[in-house]
Amino acid sequence: MKRLLVLTASLLAAFASYAQPQLGKDKIEDVIAAMTLQEKVNLLHGCGMAFGEVKFPGTAGSTYAIPRLGIPSVYMADGPHRLVMTPTRPFDSQVYNTTELPSELTIASSFDVDAAYKAGELIGQEVSDYGLDILLAPGINLLRTSLGGRNGEYYSEDPVHAGVIAAAYINGVQSKNIGVALKHFAVNNQETNRNANDAIVGQRALRELYLRNFEIAVKQSNPWSIMTSYNKVNGEYVCESRFFNEDVLRKEWGFQGLVMSDWNAGRDAVLSIKAGNDMLQPGQDKQRAAILEAAQNGSLSMELVDLSVRRVLEFVLKCNTFKGYEYPNETDLKAHSRLAREIGANSVVLLKNQDEVLPFEGVKNVALYGTTSYDIVPAGMGFGATGHGYYCVSLVEGLRKAGYNVEKSLIGPYQAHIAAENRKNYPNGLPPFSITAPLRADEFVPEASVLEANVAANDVAVITFGRACGEGADRKKEHFYLTEKEQELIKAVSQAYHAAGKKVVVLLNVVSAVETASWKDSVDGILCIFQPGCETGNAVADVLSGKVNPSGRLPQTFQVNYGDALADANFPYDYTFDMSIFARAYSGGSAKDAAERAQRDEAPVLKKNVDYTNYEEGVYVGYRYFTTFGKEVSYPFGYGLSYTDFAYELVSSSMDKDNCSMTVKVTNTGKKAGREVVQAYVNAPKGTMKKPLRELKAFAKTGLLQPGESQEITLTWETGLNASYSEKKAAWELAKGKYTLMICKDAQSPAVLQAVHKF
Ligand code: BGC
Repeated sequence: MKRLLVLTASLLAAFASYAQPQLGKDKIEDVIAAMTLQEKVNLLHGCGMAFGEVKFPGTAGSTYAIPRLGIPSVYMADGPHRLVMTPTRPFDSQVYNTTELPSELTIASSFDVDAAYKAGELIGQEVSDYGLDILLAPGINLLRTSLGGRNGEYYSEDPVHAGVIAAAYINGVQSKNIGVALKHFAVNNQETNRNANDAIVGQRALRELYLRNFEIAVKQSNPWSIMTSYNKVNGEYVCESRFFNEDVLRKEWGFQGLVMSDWNAGRDAVLSIKAGNDMLQPGQDKQRAAILEAAQNGSLSMELVDLSVRRVLEFVLKCNTFKGYEYPNETDLKAHSRLAREIGANSVVLLKNQDEVLPFEGVKNVALYGTTSYDIVPAGMGFGATGHGYYCVSLVEGLRKAGYNVEKSLIGPYQAHIAAENRKNYPNGLPPFSITAPLRADEFVPEASVLEANVAANDVAVITFGRACGEGADRKKEHFYLTEKEQELIKAVSQAYHAAGKKVVVLLNVVSAVETASWKDSVDGILCIFQPGCETGNAVADVLSGKVNPSGRLPQTFQVNYGDALADANFPYDYTFDMSIFARAYSGGSAKDAAERAQRDEAPVLKKNVDYTNYEEGVYVGYRYFTTFGKEVSYPFGYGLSYTDFAYELVSSSMDKDNCSMTVKVTNTGKKAGREVVQAYVNAPKGTMKKPLRELKAFAKTGLLQPGESQEITLTWETGLNASYSEKKAAWELAKGKYTLMICKDAQSPAVLQAVHKF
């Protein structure tokens, strides 16, 4: 009897799936036609964030499954620098660790597309090994100011730099059959009131800067999906805008994939579907109800519903879960750590090297100052970094492993100071992860007698300054500057060491640009390490010791003062936004939050830089402003020194209607092996518009060149990239006249090579 029942059940199941179209076996149209309206609506939403008894705890979400039609859920996790997933699971003794790579900004500072590709491959491999399908990364919004809360999660102040690095990273991820969600499309340059802020930006700046990075990434890497941003642009939520999702992304750029919203973005779910934002994440009941009702009463056409459903299905079809991939459920963490270290070291930017203080020679004993020397920041904060990686090599450990003695008498006092500061800043204990700008321990300045003893016992002083920040809050103007205590520390340490003829090196473990102009003359060496991930201590020791010759370049201008950049005034640099981050979203929070949100939505008097932000600087963002208007900076975009020197020779250059190209021979003329970043800028004729003096069009990095060795590098870019967007004509204009193609060491120094082409 039991057997008969089993047989009948399996026959029924077989019949059921035979009778019903199956995704992957039958035509997509037939699968869609077999769905109920409710099922279609469900597919247009995520299934919530993964907490509790779920397949992948601590991940960002999944898509809706319809087993009878052979449609599984597919699984998404945040990046960009770590597969974000809770490492432990209930009733499971395995630990699911993932590698913490250098932050996006750090990878961008390598100016190395191969490094970005390898980083993508690595993280794609981990996502695949652990059985998930989609990485919610990379974020590529521009660094419009020094204070943007997510600057560390983004790549650059320049759209070509950001777009090209992103494309390499995406190609790396997708080479593992893991999809990306390229985010946050578009103009997400501030965190303050990010769920409602309206970026008022002209069409020219939009096209030339804030969309161009996305355009390059979309065209060069074909991302499986795009995540729309929280903010509005020119009055419309991006997720509710047909201009962004259909006209620009799909019609103009030919994007074929899925568009999903950021988590709880927008206000009007029906408008999102109408705009071509196919999937609402993580999905709310009231959104489902609204879409169902609109589809039933005809205010949302079935055609649009089916179109978005089709895009969801095409997306699911590509995924490993759909293909039944049997994942190993473990990953090669050791090998991945080695790569994290290599990329971290490859990204370090040498800003100053007076009298060749670096690499260390004849140095054995190192005294470490600055609280960050004992509390390094491996990466950014926020959902992209929920709980840092499973380990981080400290600076002390990295230096010791490299064979240095670290001054022991400083360790205890610094640790005690950090613990006391943390108790003060976080009376209820350190948060397990933070989504607002975390308070760092302020500086601790050892007494003069201690310093004197340190100087006698050590060969060199290293001071580390750290800044952490992330999603949910912007930095404030004061965070751009060193604190009084930090300034005091530089002064005290430099005086003590210099009096004894010894040197001082500063490490900047920062999330984006900080003030350097007022103190850089007091020290001998400066390395900007940004946030190199789990192998920070080793990566930094590699550069200090000379095992790796630094070859990173700044992805952002280090301006003299906050306020120097045109965009600075139009940014909430001194404003504390006190609504909880979740409450700012579509729903959630307390009654007070809801009332405040409603009031903000309806408010007759809107607050500048909070409810709306005027992008008055137009295209003059970052170096485009400083270089064009001859404004002094502390260190320009693209800047970075090496332990060796390079000479350039122009081999050839050309410009025709399709492409521009420069071939240069780079020779290592110094005494140490090293890598050089070759940057091509263009000065274009004015045409009908004023233009930045120069703009980056292409870049590349040489291999490791031995002293005396040369390499030919060819940089090619589409001639169309030299065009500017005319608001009058609502079209791109490639002006006639003289184009100067230049190879420059950075965005501000005079060109080292140039070639003029009439066009
Ligand atoms: C962030 C996204 C992230 C998403 C899912 C949002 O708060 O803006 O970058 O992918 O959460 O965790």
